[in-house]
Amino acid sequence: MKIFIDSGDIDEIRESIKWGIIDGVTTNPSLIRVALDRRKGMDIRKYIREICETAGEKIPVSLEVMSTDYKSMVKEGRVLYDRYNPIMKNVVIKVPVNTGPEFEGLRAIKELSSGGIPINATLIMTPPQALLAAKAGARYVSPFLGRIDDYVRTRLKVEFRKDDYFDYARAREALIADIDKYRGNIGKYLEMSAIAFPDDVMSGTELLQRIIAVFRNYSIRSEVIAASIRNPRQMAEAMYAGADIATVPIGIIRKLLHHQKTEEGVTLFKNDAEAANYRDVFL
Ligand code: E4P
Repeated sequence: MKIFIDSGDIDEIRESIKWGIIDGVTTNPSLIRVALDRRKGMDIRKYIREICETAGEKIPVSLEVMSTDYKSMVKEGRVLYDRYNPIMKNVVIKVPVNTGPEFEGLRAIKELSSGGIPINATLIMTPPQALLAAKAGARYVSPFLGRIDDYVRTRLKVEFRKDDYFDYARAREALIADIDKYRGNIGKYLEMSAIAFPDDVMSGTELLQRIIAVFRNYSIRSEVIAASIRNPRQMAEAMYAGADIATVPIGIIRKLLHHQKTEEGVTLFKNDAEAANYRDVFL
């Protein structure tokens, strides 16, 4: 599995690349906004150039368009690619999959990818969106796991904080038990079931699993980026599901290594090494 850093902050990008496990960078306008708010007066064009330079030739950097209509997205995609790709040959253009009634996003993906520009189709919330984006030529598709969990929990009226893990398996069991009460009334039963499980996707992880299954069914080669990851457990589920890539904020990458027993073990080994004069082994 490849790990991308999901950040518009050049210091975070630089720091995480030093760890030697980062395979890519994804930005979006909100992430760039946060980064520039921390750097008042910074020239945005220079800043994005620096991000591309910092990532270097082997680390792809997704840069997003801002418009919502086909023509402008194509124009912006070309501007971003022509301006920044020559620096390190690492630019990927991020295009929202579906903006507007006329398939604006898909058409922009098709047009740009036909011209050889690698595309990351973003804001994927359903398996059919992922299939269509792949058919349009996207190199990457980015299902937003955390935002689907937000959506489902809000619909279920479950309170949550942004980084809370959503135990959707238990939630699913509870919902099924609830709907089961209507077994004698097939109309009501089906109605309740359709409300509870639209698209048969009840969590970001389920969305990811279904997209991976669809891509396997049809031998689709676009890579799946598990995006909008909010906690380490969700990241682990992306691994179990077989996502090609996870794009992860720096704070969550840091938490991935943490385990109380690892820390205890490190301290214990260190103390025993001192007690055993283990240092002498290295003389
Ligand atoms: C992915 O490419 C997006 O930049 C990102 O993962 C969105 O995450 P969020 O839903 O936490 O904002």
